[in-house]
Amino acid sequence: MKEKIKKAAQLINSANYPVAFTGAGISAESGVPTFRGPDGLWNKHDPQEAVSLSSFRNQPKKFWQFARDLIISSGASPNPGHRALARLEKQGKLKSIITQNIDMLHQEAGSEKVLEIHGSLQKVDCQDCSQVYLWQELTATLKKDKLPRCDNCGSLRLKPRIVFFGERLPEDILQKSWAEAKRADLMLVIGSSLEVYPAAGIPELTRQNSGKLIYLNADRGSRTQLFDLIITGKAGKVLPKIADRVIQK
Ligand code: APR
Ligand code: ZN
Repeated sequence: MKEKIKKAAQLINSANYPVAFTGAGISAESGVPTFRGPDGLWNKHDPQEAVSLSSFRNQPKKFWQFARDLIISSGASPNPGHRALARLEKQGKLKSIITQNIDMLHQEAGSEKVLEIHGSLQKVDCQDCSQVYLWQELTATLKKDKLPRCDNCGSLRLKPRIVFFGERLPEDILQKSWAEAKRADLMLVIGSSLEVYPAAGIPELTRQNSGKLIYLNADRGSRTQLFDLIITGKAGKVLPKIADRVIQK
């Protein structure tokens, strides 16, 4: 492992435009459950039921139960993996993060250039009167296992700005993410099963532009032929060690 951490630090140091691509795995050590794998959220919630536009319209309760399991129950806060990426950005050794996560933990850790291709829970719109809420305004209600209701018009149809199944990804964020991936001469692919497109196609853009790819994941994953360096380990443990080597003390 030591050799691999050294190699990763060398790749970051010699890169002109390193970028990170993250999935649920980087938030696992914050207590946020991942989607797939033995205790994944999709074992407990049917994604089509919980996070599809059609079912959200008819029964928002299923979505809010999923959202509570995703964030509230874990009392999620950034872990050393998120903080290591924020440190690298501050040192100019990471230009941006493209994330599939909706948990806002990269920003809470201090990262500034974060492209949320599946949106985020940060802003919530009332579908009936367009009143806008911040996630923080709803968490107290969710913790009491109640459904958030619009103060203005009483509607239960409060919809967070995340990408529901059946919805298109935010075009502007996607374009910016594709541009970042093409510009990157190194991409750290962290904590993603790379199963959901178009997100999962983003690392390949870096590859096509002869950029190098590092795969950091708790398990080995399947598309190993794509990667120049594969580190099997936990993001919260490995990323700080890489950042320590990159950022001269
Ligand atoms: N450190 C690093 N990797 C980890 C850790 C950890 N501590 N714990 C789990 N992992 C890895 C798992 O091995 C798995 O490969 O994180 C990955 C999580 O995969 P998924 O649960 O499929 O999450 P993700 O790839 O982000 O899913 C993509 O699918 O359902 C949609 O919209 C949802 O954004 C999500 C998308
Ligand atoms: Zn309203």
